Amino acid sequence: MVSKINKKILLAASGGIAAYKTAELVRLLRKKNAEVRVVLTHAAEKFVTPLTFQALSGHAVATELLDTEQENAMGHINLARWADLLIVAPATADIIAKFSHGLADDLLSTLYLAAECPVYIAPAMNQAMWNKTVTQDNIKKLQNHGVTIIGPESGDQACGEQGFGRMSEPEEICNHLLTGSSSSLLQGKSVLISAGPTREPLDPVRYISNRSSGKMGYALAEAAINQGASVTLVSGPVSLSAPAKTNLVNVETAQQMYEEVLQRAGLYDVYIGAAAVADYSPDQIKEEKIKKQADRTTIVLRKNKDILSAVAHLKQRPFTVGFAAETQELEKYARGKLERKNLDMIAANWVGKESGGFEDDNNALQVFWRQGKQNFEMMNKKRLAEKLIELIAEKLDEKNTTKNP
Ligand code: PMT
Repeated sequence: MVSKINKKILLAASGGIAAYKTAELVRLLRKKNAEVRVVLTHAAEKFVTPLTFQALSGHAVATELLDTEQENAMGHINLARWADLLIVAPATADIIAKFSHGLADDLLSTLYLAAECPVYIAPAMNQAMWNKTVTQDNIKKLQNHGVTIIGPESGDQACGEQGFGRMSEPEEICNHLLTGSSSSLLQGKSVLISAGPTREPLDPVRYISNRSSGKMGYALAEAAINQGASVTLVSGPVSLSAPAKTNLVNVETAQQMYEEVLQRAGLYDVYIGAAAVADYSPDQIKEEKIKKQADRTTIVLRKNKDILSAVAHLKQRPFTVGFAAETQELEKYARGKLERKNLDMIAANWVGKESGGFEDDNNALQVFWRQGKQNFEMMNKKRLAEKLIELIAEKLDEKNTTKNP
């Protein structure tokens, strides 16, 4: 429940259809006792009028960078200094790109550069624009600069498409702003995550590996950080950059991953095994490149140690969450792993199908624990990771409450 606050909030809308929801946001913030001043970009003015926002906020709306009257009343530098926080809702792909590149050619981009207060943005755009690598790079850059991203949500879009890009609802943005964030479910907790594939060398140039891209594990690291956790990510070779604030440990083989995870696991509150660890490695690594010879050849493999099971059998063990990648009888095999490996929870995904699982940006999960299960439908791995982290936080809390009533 959000209580009243007395913050000075600078609320800016850039030019997207979601700007109509910004009016409701002003109303909600004022209801919570916040003082709100509104900035509209010229593109936003095509969707909504300054008059609406003047009436709702009780202050003249700023639209110009170099307007003599407005500069006298509350110049852009003063406006930036006045604010306790700046929220841009909706934030279009254009304004996000401007912020991330430090452009200052209109009132809002200049305000962003001048603002020393916390900055929040609620992106809103077509799903393809949101998913475009350049937009995601811009978002990451802003996050690295300390900007908090609220949303976007998945669903029907004004353009008739479906997917991520819809601005979060005003109530959610309001809660986020007034509580500092809605993200503190793992505050003070430490989370160890393994991600990506392992590589098992055959000779100096060849290895056995799998298709894991690390996307699922990296998204979990980001989601856990956003919930206030301190996160260590033990990662096989992937081409992703680790989320800001992650303690990244790079490994290559299953044995290295085993060592790096096991030496830490007992000190962590949660371990999530999202890596696709090789079950077997070549029994011998040839020192020289193996020469092409017979038409048929044999590689002898030996079983690797099971990292997940070893963590879950530690005397002082974290809340242990495994993944199960299955091509058949998902629940039966996942529940088997839950029992056999002594886990608290297992997140099972279909693999080898047309979409989801390995490499894909999307995935669906069926999560099992001893007394229950929850299905998460196919969605972007980042969103899915947020939902899984929320579930883990809930079950961890229940376990701790039972242990220490
Ligand atoms: O990386 P992405 O491209 O985003 O793909 C995500 C994913 C499909 C890799 C991920 O969602 C996933 O399912 N990860 C686990 C893959 C896997 O190895 O599943 P498994 O059913 O073979 O293993 C079960 C569990 O035991 C896993 O938690 C695995 O990390 C763990 N394990 C397996 C073998 C081993 N030697 N040590 C382990 O810890």
